[in-house]
Amino acid sequence: MKLLVTGGLGYIGSHTVKALYDHHHTAVIVDDLSNAKESVHHTLETLVNDTIPFYQADAKDIDAMRALFENYHFDGVLHFAGHKAVGESVSRPMMYYHNNLNSTLTLAQLCVEHRVSKFIFSSSATVYGDQPSPLHEGLELKKTTNPYGETKAISERMLTDIQRAHPSLSVALLRYFNPIGADESGLLGEDPQGIPNNLMPFITNVASQRIPQLNVYGDDYETPDGTGVRDYIHVSDLARGHVLALEKITEGVHIYNLGTGQGTSVFQMIEAFERVNQVSVPYRVVPRRPGDVAITYAAVEHARDQLGFQTEKSIDDMVKDSWRFTCNQKGTPSS
Ligand code: WQD
Repeated sequence: MKLLVTGGLGYIGSHTVKALYDHHHTAVIVDDLSNAKESVHHTLETLVNDTIPFYQADAKDIDAMRALFENYHFDGVLHFAGHKAVGESVSRPMMYYHNNLNSTLTLAQLCVEHRVSKFIFSSSATVYGDQPSPLHEGLELKKTTNPYGETKAISERMLTDIQRAHPSLSVALLRYFNPIGADESGLLGEDPQGIPNNLMPFITNVASQRIPQLNVYGDDYETPDGTGVRDYIHVSDLARGHVLALEKITEGVHIYNLGTGQGTSVFQMIEAFERVNQVSVPYRVVPRRPGDVAITYAAVEHARDQLGFQTEKSIDDMVKDSWRFTCNQKGTPSS
């Protein structure tokens, strides 16, 4: 299939473009480069050994997007483009609602206009709000704890209503848990512009001595070692989940968790990173981060039974691959 991939030079988007080519699909990439480097385009072309059309554009620019739909006759859309920083969404809600909702609406409208039948949406486990794990797709959604999460929940509802009015659409709402890791080549990885938000970029920054120590946000949670527990999924497994969804969904709206079903604490992640990479990650425990929950992990049966999706990479793979990418960026060997 020929796919439009918005945000295709970003962390998850770029890994998914590679997975698409690994499964003999082709892509056209749109990215506004607000949180991605144009150099990723050349890296992807090298990795897939093919040319990949790339357009620096805003996914909510309907004229720019319509020109692409008219030119390429896509078989599907994978929509990654969107702002994703939880903290920033609290201080800049208008930017988040405007960007994340209007980009989704624009692309859904063009899919309907051009009879593009497959729409894969980058959603998030954050839509579950603060509910007990394991989190399964049939759960009623509660209000999320931040505008970023609200944009994901509202986008899911918008796409559900649009599909109901246009039954030939096949929509997948993919709820990511905590994506980390990097392509085994060491050439693609998580490279957020500016100050990171998530645990793994902080760990790699500390391990490479860009920042002196990791702040561990609380060790007084009701968890085995007191630190937060999350369901970390290797980004390459996550990318493969998108290809499976793309290939298998039929008319209707299909919701899938993309996680491992296993929880890992912050201390366990630090231990794995230090053990596997033989590098130290100095840390200090600080007060809890507002909005954090103690434990989050996925129910994985639905994606397994419906898509045949099962993760293959371990936490050790994730920390090793993350470090390899970081070292490649610094020009130093990882081991
Ligand atoms: C993981 C754990 C922190 C940083 C967020 C979004 C979610 C999704 C994934 C987009 C927690 C702890 C973190 C640090 C720490 N994003 N931590 N020190 O908050 O589970 O999920 O990213 O879809 O929508 O909410 O991920 O990586 O920020 O935190 O101790 O410097 O690491 O308290 O327990 P989170 P995270």
